[in-house]
Amino acid sequence: MSEAPRTAFEIITLFPAAVEAFAGAGLLGKAIERGLVAVHTTSPRDFATDRWRTVDDAPFGGGAGMVLKPEPVVAALEHVVATRGPCHRILLTPSAPRFDQRVAERLATLPRIALVCGRYEGIDDRVREHYVDECLSLGDFVLGGGEVAALAIVEAVSRLAEGVLHNPESVAGDSFAAGDHGPLLEFPQYTRPAVFREHAVPEVLLSGDHAAVAAWRLAASLRRTWALRPELRAVSPWPPALPISLGVGADAIALAPALAELARCHALAGLVVLGGDEDDALAWTRATGGRVPIAAMRDLAAVRRRLKRSEAGAPWLVALAAAGEVPAAAASAAELHDRLTTCAGRRGAAVLLLPGLAGAQDAADAIFAPAAGAHEGSPAAPQRARVSEHDPTLANPPAIVDPSRPAALAVVELALTRLRGTPQAPPTHAGPTKPP
Ligand SMILES: C[S@@+](CC[C@H](N)C(=O)[O-])C[C@H]1O[C@@H](n2cnc3c(N)ncnc32)[C@H](O)[C@@H]1O
Repeated sequence: MSEAPRTAFEIITLFPAAVEAFAGAGLLGKAIERGLVAVHTTSPRDFATDRWRTVDDAPFGGGAGMVLKPEPVVAALEHVVATRGPCHRILLTPSAPRFDQRVAERLATLPRIALVCGRYEGIDDRVREHYVDECLSLGDFVLGGGEVAALAIVEAVSRLAEGVLHNPESVAGDSFAAGDHGPLLEFPQYTRPAVFREHAVPEVLLSGDHAAVAAWRLAASLRRTWALRPELRAVSPWPPALPISLGVGADAIALAPALAELARCHALAGLVVLGGDEDDALAWTRATGGRVPIAAMRDLAAVRRRLKRSEAGAPWLVALAAAGEVPAAAASAAELHDRLTTCAGRRGAAVLLLPGLAGAQDAADAIFAPAAGAHEGSPAAPQRARVSEHDPTLANPPAIVDPSRPAALAVVELALTRLRGTPQAPPTHAGPTKPP
């Protein structure tokens, strides 16, 4: 192919051979062979001016280690610009914004990119200050040098270049791709054999029913994303708000910021402060920074009356468990499961989840059990293990339940995640903007 490559990378590194060996392998190597991508390496050592080809020196002010001198690095950069043309110059350093898929997409639009790799304690900071256009970090950890970071960027950017992947659809379906549902983690992938030892793949994948497979994959992606990478939720354009309000005891105000965040992330209708009056509503509004609608209600009878008056007249009321004078609205964990799933697709249904209450683990078991109620009466066990056991798509989660948060909040979060991850008919109404 005689055309110019879609992206050309200039790697400034003290270890050109290591970079070239990696770049020559796999799909990247093939893309280079086909002229779709170019990777050139240049060593600052070739621009050192003394007889020992010195590239480092001790830090001014003292301290451990050595620092890469500015002259050979800048001379190497100027050389590649003079010989092959201007580049977008990126310095690799842990002290920088993190590289991610959005940055990869932006870089994929540029014709020439220089990646400057440090070693030792890093590069004299005047290079950052005056000779590069941007700094990027691979993540919050310290590598021995910038080469691995540079190669990660080269791979992530190259696979977005047209023609590099045989099937361009695989980019659209990747984790973090900006799809209809926002950046999601990918669904679990399986291949033959259908049963490996005693582990079978999910049956739906063998059904040949494309719509069912697509629905299962979307549900699994949503569940994984919400459970494993909660921060991605905030940037996802989720479907319209579910008609769910979160019921909280008026005295749980210390949890207000966490509850508000939960309600906001899950696009809930708002918080209902139970056993509270107008003063409580004001205090909660202040404590949540006004981020979610708050309604105060004296007791559950008031809630029920309000729900009965609400648009569709379907007064669903589900509590995770009872506490104090708040009666349990679901007789059993199985009933709770049924109610949650029924409510999710039901027009005008309102679900009230009461966090902070005893018995929440049973409820979580019901929500996450493949068969409702299958785990009722099972002995107490750590929440994380029990929950993940029930949902193979969340197997081996690093942190499904954030231990720093009150357990019941985590349970509510899991319940909401489950609802979100369950494919359902979109609500036929716009969704309430106020709590019931
Ligand atoms: C040992 S590190 C220097 C770390 C530096 N003393 C610090 O604490 O930030 C040497 C070089 O590795 C590269 N490097 C290390 N960690 C990195 C990361 N997370 N992202 C990008 N580059 C990294 C940088 O080019 C850096 O100059």
